[in-house]
Amino acid sequence: MKLENILELKNISKKFGAVHALNGTDFHIKKGEVVGLVGDNGAGKSTLMKVINGVYTPDSGKYIFEGEEKHIKSPRDTAALGIEMVFQDFALLDNLDIAENIFLGRELYKSVLGINVLNRKEMAKESEKIVREKLNLDIDSVKSKVKNLSGGERQGVAISRALLFDPKLLILDEPTASLSVDKIKNVLNLIKKLKELGIAVILISHRLQEIMEVCDRISVMYRGKIISELITSETDISEIVTCMVGGNVKVY
Ligand SMILES: Nc1ncnc2c1ncn2[C@@H]1O[C@H](COP(=O)(O)OP(=O)(O)OP(=O)(O)O)[C@@H](O)[C@H]1O
Ligand SMILES: [Mg+2]
Repeated sequence: MKLENILELKNISKKFGAVHALNGTDFHIKKGEVVGLVGDNGAGKSTLMKVINGVYTPDSGKYIFEGEEKHIKSPRDTAALGIEMVFQDFALLDNLDIAENIFLGRELYKSVLGINVLNRKEMAKESEKIVREKLNLDIDSVKSKVKNLSGGERQGVAISRALLFDPKLLILDEPTASLSVDKIKNVLNLIKKLKELGIAVILISHRLQEIMEVCDRISVMYRGKIISELITSETDISEIVTCMVGGNVKVY
């Protein structure tokens, strides 16, 4: 069965002053696919993801979501489409507990004697569902303060937060950059779990080994453009590295 593209970008350009951060690049990802985005520092990976997430509006190019052209103006627009992004610093608040972080800015309320109050019970229940049932995280309680969690657990909370509204596409910008080897394993297992849930994932990483382990396909960026698309099962790290330095162009 041929999977349909959930997102397709065509000929996207973005300049910052004289810097051509994106130089007429294409990108696509299919429903439920895990795509690795690799490339040297400054290649344009984060800029491309910020275009997808609506932080930046491109100077030119087409943005097609589920077969329809969209004119994205902000991350609010992309959230409405079902696109979420986990940023590298996780953006969690240490003094709040796990459930409060998951619902941050999107709190649930209930009416008590005509007054709107936070519905902590419902938020805790929903958080439990995501943390345990969806992601199988090994966390004592969703009432634990985030400041007491390890780096890997914080990553799990940040991903739980992104899963709150059942996204169709999740962007993970270097989720393992600050983690130790055993914690990286947990994040990779998490990504496999997301794939089982049918969520399309874009994974940015400089660690090619982990890209090979979890991605179906690898897009290689070079000077503002995706120059190679590799199928994981048909490539190896040395070919990826050759592509990353602009030494090979391969598009399927
Ligand atoms: N807001 C900005 N203002 C000016 N220049 C920018 C801005 N954001 C990115 N750039 C420039 O655009 C180019 C691409 O940057 P980008 O952050 O997308 O690269 P990257 O592939 O994510 O690199 P890294 O692997 O180091 O994170 C770089 O030359 C960068 O300096
Ligand atoms: Mg970056």
